[in-house]
Amino acid sequence: MNLIQPMPATVYTQPAETDSVRRPRRLRISPALRRMVRETTLSSADFIYPLFVRHGRGERRPIASMPGQFQLSVDQLAAEADQVLELGIPAVILFGIPAEKDWCGSDNFSPHGVVPEAIRVLKAAAPELTVISDMCFCEYTDHGHCGLINTHGADDYSAGLPEGYLLNDPSLELLGRASVVHAEAGADVIAPSAMLDHMVAAVRRALDEASLQHVAILSYAAKYASSFYGPFRDAAESPPSFGDRSQYQMDPANRREALKEVALDVDEGADMIMVKPALPYLDVLAAVRQQFNLPTAAYHVSGEYAMLHAAAANGWLDLRKCALESLTSIKRAGADMILTYFAKDAARWLDGGQ
Ligand code: PBG
Repeated sequence: MNLIQPMPATVYTQPAETDSVRRPRRLRISPALRRMVRETTLSSADFIYPLFVRHGRGERRPIASMPGQFQLSVDQLAAEADQVLELGIPAVILFGIPAEKDWCGSDNFSPHGVVPEAIRVLKAAAPELTVISDMCFCEYTDHGHCGLINTHGADDYSAGLPEGYLLNDPSLELLGRASVVHAEAGADVIAPSAMLDHMVAAVRRALDEASLQHVAILSYAAKYASSFYGPFRDAAESPPSFGDRSQYQMDPANRREALKEVALDVDEGADMIMVKPALPYLDVLAAVRQQFNLPTAAYHVSGEYAMLHAAAANGWLDLRKCALESLTSIKRAGADMILTYFAKDAARWLDGGQ
């Protein structure tokens, strides 16, 4: 159709009662007006950048399913910290790839484990950078589950539980122990992500007993058993060797249960709470934001990042626009903080860069 052809009068003649009061398009007429009435503004201060760290020197191993993301050796971190701060991003969260995995994930509570080493390097290089330590065992255990597994040993606590069951309370002790090691290395925030019952209380108690009352807890309070974590498990080399995580992470079908999980973590002493993943769970995020008065984070996870990259690589989506729209939507739904692999790119884009 030729748009400049005159239209027949019947097309644009309006009934009088519709023509003057309700015209929301008035406020969309120019970029300046749209900017004035914008309700949500993204900023680099909203972001937390995830880093994958490993032992060794001079390593920057690309992660195939997460274009632009790398496993970095510890000696690369000082430069990375400078870049992150330069872009106005206040925090990083660390995931470790240990040299060796074992039944109890001992690298996670060794003072010379990969994450404690990384924390010391980061805090020495950039004391003003907030360092958050992801606190879970799946990257460190040889079976890839988030704590100790029942093997029908002689232990009292395993009696009656099925083989392969993730043992809750014995794993809590290890979470507490590793949290103290990471905090003593200089972590500002511990982020328990195992979805074990009472994990926040266990971490808080262990920190307090070690005179680490000043170290905050960001709880992965509502973490779903999501298939969107696929690329992360490549990145962190942490897929479970048997079964899946649905006996401890939440059922994607449940929203009320998320509010119960968050309430428990708030009672146990969480300083900040998280919903994960982000975009498929915006209803959960909005409900949590409304009901609780704590700073709330959302994790825009590896699969959400990979999907956008894959579509963009095919020429099907505009990466920059779709990433910024996703992050804006997560903030609009109620996130005070967004953990995202797009952190550095988005900070550049917001600053007008490419
Ligand atoms: C557990 C952990 C996972 C992620 C963050 N912390 C993986 C899992 O629970 O299987 C996933 C993050 C992502 O997909 O980006 N340590």
